[in-house]
Amino acid sequence: MDKPDPPLRKRTIEERRTWWLDACKADPEQTRFFKESGSDLALADRLVENAVGWMPIPLGVVSGLVVNGTSYQVPLATEEPSVIAAASAAASAAARCGGFTAGAAMPVMRAQVFLEGSAADAEVRLEGARGALEAEARQLLTSMERRGGGLRGLSMARLEGLEVAVVHLDVDVRDALGANLLNTLAETLSPSLEAYLGGKKLMAILSNDAGFRPAWAEVWLTVDPERARRIALASAVAQIDSQRAITHNKGIMNGIAALALATGNDTRALEASVHQFAGASGTYRGLTSWTVSAEGLHGRIDLPLALATVGGSVGIHPAAQMALQLLGNPDAPALCSIAAALGLAQNYAALNALVGEGIQKGHMALHSRRTQRTD
Ligand code: MEV
Repeated sequence: MDKPDPPLRKRTIEERRTWWLDACKADPEQTRFFKESGSDLALADRLVENAVGWMPIPLGVVSGLVVNGTSYQVPLATEEPSVIAAASAAASAAARCGGFTAGAAMPVMRAQVFLEGSAADAEVRLEGARGALEAEARQLLTSMERRGGGLRGLSMARLEGLEVAVVHLDVDVRDALGANLLNTLAETLSPSLEAYLGGKKLMAILSNDAGFRPAWAEVWLTVDPERARRIALASAVAQIDSQRAITHNKGIMNGIAALALATGNDTRALEASVHQFAGASGTYRGLTSWTVSAEGLHGRIDLPLALATVGGSVGIHPAAQMALQLLGNPDAPALCSIAAALGLAQNYAALNALVGEGIQKGHMALHSRRTQRTD
């Protein structure tokens, strides 16, 4: 009997690549593409398990996005035609009117420890043990404290209808996403939390909720009054009609997720938190509002954003490092501010096309000459 093939994880990346081409029944053109695109196999192998190669996504640049008086060249990794062209057109229109103002809160993220069956007086016990628990947390956070971050909160809540309490550990993670640190902190403190509060750990994990990290951007634009009125009305529609709001916000995330990908950030964490925020009122709403006044068309975006500029794949992926260098090595709040402005720019471009000549003729046509999209 033939020996079974070894599992993928036991093969070298070269062996896995041969397996891949064979398993996919790749034709000669696909084989050429696979072999020629993405040559740093050692890096792919370092980044993920069972790596076979790269899935290249085009990397482009939005030129001249003016945020808080600085003109940025913004790197975007996206497969979608028209995203970069649309954002560039909106960036130019905004630059002519003074650009975007934007800001982002300090980078505090939360870890959660869920305890099953904790004591009835766990809240009181937490206060009694606060000093000891905070001291234990600090031991893990010394390097974060040296960088100006560290523990910012320790609290607890009970989950209605369940015999489960949740302890919150809030940490200023500075320029990192802090996922490993938060998970380690939650897991390390779990035995002490069990001992002090009673009960048994169900799970310990960071929350990707970036609710402590609101980011915002604003812009004033000089636009034909009728066009401005229609853009404002379209943004009001996205406050009421959820189905429209989903597409409205998808367009915003076209830019923000592409910037996140280009800078090596976790696009799924970002999207999960943004969409939770968009639906927090009970109705899923648009993230922007556009209003008309005597000064012109005013746009504003508010959304939670957790973007990192150090650590994780940001620190390993050379393309992500170059993307950050192109942006002048911003810190995390500055990157979040640029992302918020980009999202607003993307939304303006989409609404302007939608209420004007229509998306196919305007926005999509920016790129349709070079593609054979039929969707
Ligand atoms: C396309 O990827 C994004 C848009 O549909 C966004 C929108 O409709 O606001 C154009």
